[in-house]
Amino acid sequence: MVELGGNGLPQISKGLEGVYVTSSSISKVNGQEGKLYYRGFSIESLSENSNFEEVVYLLINGSLPSKPQLDEITAQLSDNRDLPDGIIKIIKELSGKGHPMDILRTAVSALSSYDKEVSDTSPAANMNKSLRIISKMSSIVAATGRFVSGKEYIAPDKSLDYVENFLYMLNGERPSAEQADIMRNMFILHAEHSTNASTFGTLVAGSTLADIYSAITAGISVLKGPLHGGADEAALRMMREIGDPENTESYIESALEGKKKIMGFGHRVYKAYDPRAKIIKKYLVKYQNGQFDELRKLASIALRAEKLMIDKLGASRGIWPNVDFFAGPVYLAAGIPPELFTPIFATSRSAGWCAHMLDYWKDNKLFRPLEWYTGSIDLEYIPIEKRQ
Ligand code: ACO
Repeated sequence: MVELGGNGLPQISKGLEGVYVTSSSISKVNGQEGKLYYRGFSIESLSENSNFEEVVYLLINGSLPSKPQLDEITAQLSDNRDLPDGIIKIIKELSGKGHPMDILRTAVSALSSYDKEVSDTSPAANMNKSLRIISKMSSIVAATGRFVSGKEYIAPDKSLDYVENFLYMLNGERPSAEQADIMRNMFILHAEHSTNASTFGTLVAGSTLADIYSAITAGISVLKGPLHGGADEAALRMMREIGDPENTESYIESALEGKKKIMGFGHRVYKAYDPRAKIIKKYLVKYQNGQFDELRKLASIALRAEKLMIDKLGASRGIWPNVDFFAGPVYLAAGIPPELFTPIFATSRSAGWCAHMLDYWKDNKLFRPLEWYTGSIDLEYIPIEKRQ
């Protein structure tokens, strides 16, 4: 029974702002203080000490693994990296036509047809499928990167860890220690963020008891938009448009005057500095004085834009840099092309999506919110020949 207010209308929360839809112990976003915890561990401590395999284990199982448990999940994530030939063909066919995020969505959806356990809804099968998805998504994104740049598919190297293998499959060579460290961090920082839009999209699909491939495909679709995961690519596009660091302030001022949003700033929950952005910013401060021309320029533009935005909208409006703002230049430093930023975000976030989905299914309830109808009723049906 819906309670109506004094005006006879229900309380509508557009965008579900301020509405709790479920509870979990997977991650805690403290938006007022700018803090983030995965299963109780601060994002800073994980960024400093952990690797992606361990974070996957932590998110899905709820605690840090023992050494044998870490070895086991590392082996599972490694053994599942191969892509069926049919999926490689799909990726090749679409590369150069669609955006890599669209290719990822299509390929993950198609993967379900190659999984014999697709309709097995037991917790064990759902866990197996989750690890397959997390593992294969990195191969799909790497393969897309190869085909888009006119190169051939490279098979996974099972002796490498998750992040190193991704970079190897993308670039055809083992990454430098710096590249691997940047991407280890990016994968950890993007792995989970509570019930945001894409996690909610995943849960809505899964709550119908559709299989986990459908749920993750929904998550990818939701993440694509520039108001969510797509902001990383859009923020870099803006920095490149600014071009010269000296143009930064005038560009931002005029965009704000024109009521344009600056991509990579603002957040529904964080009304303080996003702690992930703080970690990523450390790399940029280094690049500001580095030797690569484009990177030096982009770092300088990003840091000047950050300062101006904080002065204008930080404390006064609670609009601070989010994880997507500094990500672009840092990805570039690791040799990642812009069209792969959001697919990499999705690959990393698949860990959080799967953790939430497995958890939600333990006590599933179909999502079915209400809509307040504002139209007419009982209108007279007029045959088409008599309509004006
Ligand atoms: N630049 C300028 N103004 C902004 C920005 C921004 N980036 N973000 C919010 N505002 C302003 C809005 O114009 C609005 O102003 P108004 O009250 O004068 O109309 C006010 O702040 C509230 O903005 P909403 O979009 O209504 O707030 P919401 O909570 O829905 O927004 C969102 C959150 C969508 C992330 C928003 O801040 C935004 O669009 N940011 C840019 C896109 C982005 O960076 N997305 C990535 C988020 S992090 C992630 O998903 C991984």
